[in-house]
This record gives sequence, structure tokens and C-alpha cells, in this order.
Amino acid sequence: MPADPARQVALDLITAALARKAGLEGALESGRFAALEPQDRAFARALVMAALRRLAPIDRALAARLEREPPEPVRMILRLGAAQLFYLDTPTYAAVDSSVALADAGKATRGFKALVNAVLRRLARDGAPADEPAALAPAWLYARWRAAYGEADAAAIAAMIAAEPATDVTPRDPADAAALAEALEAEPLPGGSLRRAGRGRIEEWPGFADGRWWVQDAAAAIPARLLHAGPGERVLDLCAAPGGKALQLATAGAAVTALDRSAARLRRLDEALARTGLAAEVVAADAETWADARTFDAVLLDAPCTSSGTFRRNPDVLWTLGPRDIAKLAEVQSRLLDAAAARVGPGGRLVYCVCSLEPEEGEAQARAFLKRRPEFATEAADPATCGAPAASLTPDGWLRLLPHHLAGGMDGFFVARLARAAPR
Ligand SMILES: C[S@@+](CC[C@H](N)C(=O)[O-])C[C@H]1O[C@@H](n2cnc3c(N)ncnc32)[C@H](O)[C@@H]1O
Repeated sequence: MPADPARQVALDLITAALARKAGLEGALESGRFAALEPQDRAFARALVMAALRRLAPIDRALAARLEREPPEPVRMILRLGAAQLFYLDTPTYAAVDSSVALADAGKATRGFKALVNAVLRRLARDGAPADEPAALAPAWLYARWRAAYGEADAAAIAAMIAAEPATDVTPRDPADAAALAEALEAEPLPGGSLRRAGRGRIEEWPGFADGRWWVQDAAAAIPARLLHAGPGERVLDLCAAPGGKALQLATAGAAVTALDRSAARLRRLDEALARTGLAAEVVAADAETWADARTFDAVLLDAPCTSSGTFRRNPDVLWTLGPRDIAKLAEVQSRLLDAAAARVGPGGRLVYCVCSLEPEEGEAQARAFLKRRPEFATEAADPATCGAPAASLTPDGWLRLLPHHLAGGMDGFFVARLARAAPR
């Protein structure tokens, strides 16, 4: 039996996603994935996602049945085989035979066909491992979440790892939300996002081509709302690409300057602006060295971060992140916060956010910034006015959005609204 193209591409995808290169998102943009038939593409994606969401229990089940470490490509084939057996309802013979065929197709794996066959048959006989929430996350990350949020919240966060997320969209015009909800068969969420079950070809969903909405996680839509930008205000989005938050600011009628250092990512913002008919000044520059003297009424800093809060859509982050990344990004965030502060005019405001669950990138950044910059003070968030769950409000007046704070899940985020004192 020759290896089938969908599984071959799935093997490439999971290997690339875990190799820390461009991550799963980058791998899904590869030519080989795009070249698959739609049905094969859906299967390859579902297979890789199932393996990544349950990587920890799969690896534990494999470790218990392997006498010694197999070469990495063999481990990847076993992971995909186990995911088919346990989570995709693939018949045992198909999961095993196709995995053996995958092994046979690679020079480095050909010698391990018998091992793949034997291990997968044993797994099939023994059945799926239990879905213990704490056991779904890498131990070091779980320990951090427990230290930051306590055992119950850490377990609730980890329980979201296995769940397939719905797709959330933000309507361009709030007055269109009810009609869109009906057309998309979507559920309205607090704050105005709409939630549609499943995925599929988003470009073909009603209203996409007319620019009536864009895809944006329910939590990711909260920071721009918290800025409360008004018509005619000058607003700077300092790390803007691909642009969901800049689009939100533009719908509020603000004069938006959307800056990002990645010209490639800004092209996606240009496309979204053209599709939605919204306007913004788009600037490709480094926020720290941007040669422009302007200050703004309001600044949004959605800083680069570990993205550990996005594991529902990018489960690979759980396995490619390391403690050093947190420290490195925290330094960048601190510098960007200072660059953002310099752009806030007197009496103006700054919303700082990250899609991270790590306190070093959230609470600790806000705290250190307020110490460094006494002219800024927290303006406590009012969860009700920005669609945030009440449970997310911290004693400091910031938002700590945890993935389980919304039924069905949302990205983990930290959001703080800071105001610059007006001159006396
Ligand atoms: C979390 S993403 C922003 C997502 C965006 N706000 C949205 O809603 O779609 C962080 C962005 O920061 C940009 N970035 C990182 N360092 C930067 C810098 N020094 N200056 C400007 N942009 C930077 C990255 O290119 C990336 O697009």
C-alpha cells in the first residue's frame, strides 16, 4: 500500500509545526498543503490538530510501549497513527496500514515498519488514554498556570486544550449583527462578536466578500473595545498586523494609524481594509525607531508575545515554547511599552495587551510600567462595556481573560487600560 498524500502532508505539517520554524500557521501556508484535494486537506489538518491537541497523552501512551527512543520521524508517524486510532475514529486496519506505508515511504523510517505495526496494534488493543486536564499541558507550563491562577483555574485552562474551537467573527457594523448572526447561523456573544460552529472555507461564508465581518477570536476583540475610541480621534495601533484590532478602531470612526514592522503581515491588513471599505493610514516601520513626531489621543499596543493564550487554535505553541522565550519577549514588551507611552498625548490613553497567559508578559509588565512612568495610571476596566466576562477583572482593574471564562472557550489575554495625566 503506497503512502497516501493526505497523511504524507500531515507528517510534513506536524514535523514543521514542532520544529519551531514558522509554526503550524506557517506550515499550513505551504504549497504541498494547498495542493491537496479539499477533502484530503481537511483530513490532513484534522489529523495534525488531533495529534497536537493530545500530544501529551499520546506521547505517554507511546513511551509506555516503546523500549527505547525511536528516531524523530518514526515518533511522528506513531503520533499520527495514535491520533487516528484514538481521536479520529479511523478503523484500526486503516490507521495501522497507512502508518506502516508512511514508514515505508521514508528512507530513515523504512527499517521501523515492524515497530510501527506492533506499537499501533498494541495501542489499538489497549484503548485511548484518559483525558486528564492537567496531563494535556506540558508539565512546566501547567505548573506556571497553577502558580499564577490556582489549581482549579489551571485545570480549567488545560481542559480547553483538547477542544476544537468554533470560529468567531467581528461584524463591521454592529447594526448588521443580528442579520449576520442569522445568515451565518452564528451565536451572538457579549460585546458583539458572533460565534459559528466549525470551520471550512471562510471566504465562501455569507458576507465575507462584501466585507461585512472579519475573523477574530472573541477575546481578541476586547482590547480595542476597551480603548473606547471615538469618531475623529487620532488613534495609533502600534503592532497592527494582520489587523483585526485596527479594523475595529476604524469602525469606531477614529482616524487610525496602523503601524507594524512586518510589511508582509501588513499586506493582510491592506486586503482587509479593501474588502471592508474601512480606512487607515498603514505604516511599515519599527515602533521603537519610527521617525515621526506625532502623538495620539489613544494608543493600542498589542505586543508580540509567547501567544500561549492561543493554544486552542495553535496547539503547537504549547510544545515549541520554552521559559527563555518568556524572558526574551518580556524585555521586548517593556521596550515597546515605553515606545507606546511616548506616542500618547497629554490626557491620552494607552491599552496594552498580549495573547499570553504568562504573568511576566501581562501583570508584571503593567506593574513595572506604572512604576517607571508615574505620569500614567490604571483606568479600571468595566468588563460589561467591552464584552469581557466579569470573572476576568483583576483587583488592579486589568483584564485577565482565561480561556474558560467564556463557555466554548476564548483566547487567553491580558489587557490593561492606562491613562496619561493631563497637564494642570
Ligand atoms: C500580536 S501581533 C499583532 C496582532 C494585531 N494587533 C491584530 O489584531 O491583528 C504582534 C505584531 O507586532 C509586530 N511587531 C513586533 N515587533 C515590532 C516592532 N518593534 N515594531 C512594530 N511592530 C512590531 C509583529 O510584526 C506582529 O505583527
